[in-house]
Amino acid sequence: MSNRTFTMIKPDATAKGFTGGILEMMLKAGFSIKAMKWTKLSTEQAGAFYAIHKERPFYRELVEFMSSGPIVAAILEKENAVADFRTLIGATNPANAEEGTIRKKYAASVGENAVHGSDSDENAIIESNFFFSELERY
Ligand code: CMP
Repeated sequence: MSNRTFTMIKPDATAKGFTGGILEMMLKAGFSIKAMKWTKLSTEQAGAFYAIHKERPFYRELVEFMSSGPIVAAILEKENAVADFRTLIGATNPANAEEGTIRKKYAASVGENAVHGSDSDENAIIESNFFFSELERY
């Protein structure tokens, strides 16, 4: 069990002005921010970040969407971070997301689902290292 996870606020949510509301939900749930940046991924960078999904039918759509506008990337800290954060964001498909979750409130569809959260401690480290140098976190 690790105390850190990685998140992105996705282009649908930044475009709709949901960044502040989403960050507030994260902070209110007890997560603290250890690193953060506002940036825009190229198609190559989005493809590399989601390379694990390369064989999936939605890969191309996912890469196009994730490089379509700005995102917020962050490292978050809390006890049991990976599991607790996935509970906070809710199901990948917002139609199945529980009341009180970020995706229930802010996500539009399975593709445009407002936020990303790491699915394991191992991926949290890989994804954090994709975006942040040691200098950019504390
Ligand atoms: P995320 O948690 O960022 O990790 C992989 C992403 O793939 C997922 O959120 C969804 O946004 C996306 N995804 C999963 N299933 C589908 C699908 N059927 N169609 C489009 N995108 C999908």
